[in-house]
Amino acid sequence: MVSPTTQTAVERKTKVVKSEHPSGDKRFKVLDVTMKRNQNRPDALIEVLHKAQEIFGYLEEDVLLYVARKLKLPISKVYGVATFYHLFSLKPSGEHTCIVCLGTACYVKGAGALLNAIEEYAHIHQGETTGDGKMSLITARCIGACGLAPAAVFDGKVAGQQTPELLVEKVKDWL
Ligand code: FES
Repeated sequence: MVSPTTQTAVERKTKVVKSEHPSGDKRFKVLDVTMKRNQNRPDALIEVLHKAQEIFGYLEEDVLLYVARKLKLPISKVYGVATFYHLFSLKPSGEHTCIVCLGTACYVKGAGALLNAIEEYAHIHQGETTGDGKMSLITARCIGACGLAPAAVFDGKVAGQQTPELLVEKVKDWL
């Protein structure tokens, strides 16, 4: 028989697990901080979407669903706001996506050099897609992997301790 104390601890743990995104992607935790700071208020939607775009580079469907659930808003409302404002982009237009984190921890560890290397290699700037539509290059502010700085995200997978060489090597396969 489970003691009341143990039960409370189990319940608490379940609650904590439930509040996280099932993917375990740490970027959602960063987003959680913004939502919590705003007490998960629905009227903080635009600020939250801004933050989400900063972290993820663009607003993928999964992110919109997560925000809707957390702020207790209908997905139609969240989607409506995200599509109404031009500053939000719902998906990168490239077949592949490379996100370079330019948050403070990554920046001090050389994220600027990473960005320069990939821009030079792919002949595009941040926010652009290669002419053949193969890759979009996006920047973000802190993707929640500061311990792995400098970090990048390749098609949704976070990669730490990046160097310009590693980064270019990775995107070579795409281009
Ligand atoms: S600053 Fe890059 S992961 Fe936090």
